[in-house]
Amino acid sequence: MKESYYCNPAIRCFLFILFSVSGSVHGRHDHGQLMVPCFFIFGASSFDNGNNNALPTLAKANYPPYGIDFPAGPTGRFSNGRSIVDIISEFLGFDDYIPSFASTVGGENILKGVNYASGGSGIRAETGQHAGARISMDGQLRNHQITVLSLINRLGQNESAAKEYLNKCIYAAGLGTNDYVSNYFLPSLYPTSRIYTPEQYALVLAQQYSRQLKTLYTNYGARKVALFGLAQLGCAPSVVASKGATNGSACVDYINDAVQIFNNRLKELVDELNRNLTDAKFIYVNVYEIASEATSYPSFRVIDAPCCPVASNNTLILCTINQTPCPNRDEYFYWDALHLSEATNMFIANRSYNAQSPTDTCPIDISDLARLLLY
Ligand SMILES: *[C@@H]1O[C@H](CO)[C@@H](O)[C@H](O)[C@H]1NC(C)=O
Ligand SMILES: *[C@@H]1O[C@H](CO)[C@@H](O)[C@H](O)[C@H]1NC(C)=O
Ligand SMILES: *[C@@H]1O[C@H](CO)[C@@H](O)[C@H](O)[C@H]1NC(C)=O
Ligand SMILES: *[C@@H]1O[C@H](CO)[C@@H](O)[C@H](O)[C@H]1NC(C)=O
Ligand SMILES: *[C@@H]1O[C@H](CO)[C@@H](O)[C@H](O)[C@H]1NC(C)=O
Repeated sequence: MKESYYCNPAIRCFLFILFSVSGSVHGRHDHGQLMVPCFFIFGASSFDNGNNNALPTLAKANYPPYGIDFPAGPTGRFSNGRSIVDIISEFLGFDDYIPSFASTVGGENILKGVNYASGGSGIRAETGQHAGARISMDGQLRNHQITVLSLINRLGQNESAAKEYLNKCIYAAGLGTNDYVSNYFLPSLYPTSRIYTPEQYALVLAQQYSRQLKTLYTNYGARKVALFGLAQLGCAPSVVASKGATNGSACVDYINDAVQIFNNRLKELVDELNRNLTDAKFIYVNVYEIASEATSYPSFRVIDAPCCPVASNNTLILCTINQTPCPNRDEYFYWDALHLSEATNMFIANRSYNAQSPTDTCPIDISDLARLLLY
């Protein structure tokens, strides 16, 4: 049974029915109960919660109006409120949001997990370098090593106890967006689009990501891993503004096409990792599909413009400092010209935690992943 959990559609439908039944027994969100002991987060700006604040970079969001709907105000989160991983941490039963790596130096508050995500970063090391400093996926893994060493230290140098603990955590990884918008599709600054076709680029990205995820599995004991696919980047207001939508589409189709090639590779990678690493479970979250459905929901009335004013000194992506954003933020799909509003984050987090359609996640959703007994 276990070895046939693939992202292959035929099997996936069957599993969706199977797990939907068990889901209704357990209830929608498992409020009050901690589902897993720890949650570790790797990613770029959409998951970043302050790791870039002290770095010399334009890719930071620690000023108003970022955080206008967040209890702590501006924190470094690239939204008006909570990120997708903040909302998932609530669903998993955590009382506090997972701390940024930047805030855990000294190893005090690491037991419930750490967020390593860094705005502008990518799977590839050079991705995002035009905006300044950032922590690439390899750098995030090196930071995780620091966390793991201090965890071992806190457990009386008992490495097997630390591995056992790390086996039970959930790991979220959401990299790849910047490898497109802050690399491949900036041909004046990066050569990748002259070296690789979109198919070749998706393949080299997936191969590098695969090595990084295997490091997480082999060296650091990750066994429950959720991989977030890319959204329709060709529809982001900053991308449409800089590239120009054509052919009657509201989006830049060739960018969405390239993103979908990568997403398909990522799905294949999930199947392959599940086949090869049978004591672990990897899942794919279909952000592209979930977010596309959100854009046709009547509650999202503005899907093609940012809620906050953006300025050219921020390459027309980030909110201008101290400018008043739109009042009806829940009706906006985008918060700034690239990042999603809290309302959209909520929509995506809901369906990644409890899939509502067999295409939302595969082979299982995050609530199933949390409940899964791997041994
Ligand atoms: C280390 O932890 C394991 C698992 O928790 C336990 O069985 C073992 O006794 C511990 N070893 C030492 C030396 O404390
Ligand atoms: C418009 O269509 C042409 C021909 O199909 C294609 O080459 C081009 O990339 C499209 N433009 C955009 C912006 O998607
Ligand atoms: C899975 O194992 C096969 C056969 O050993 C190997 O060719 C492939 O590269 C592995 N894939 C991954 C993602 O580990
Ligand atoms: C961007 O430019 C505007 C106008 O020149 C300025 O007021 C603002 O401080 C700059 N920086 C940011 C982060 O918006
Ligand atoms: C997400 O789920 C919560 C809790 O079930 C619900 O209150 C909220 O309306 C949902 N939001 C969206 C956008 O689906």
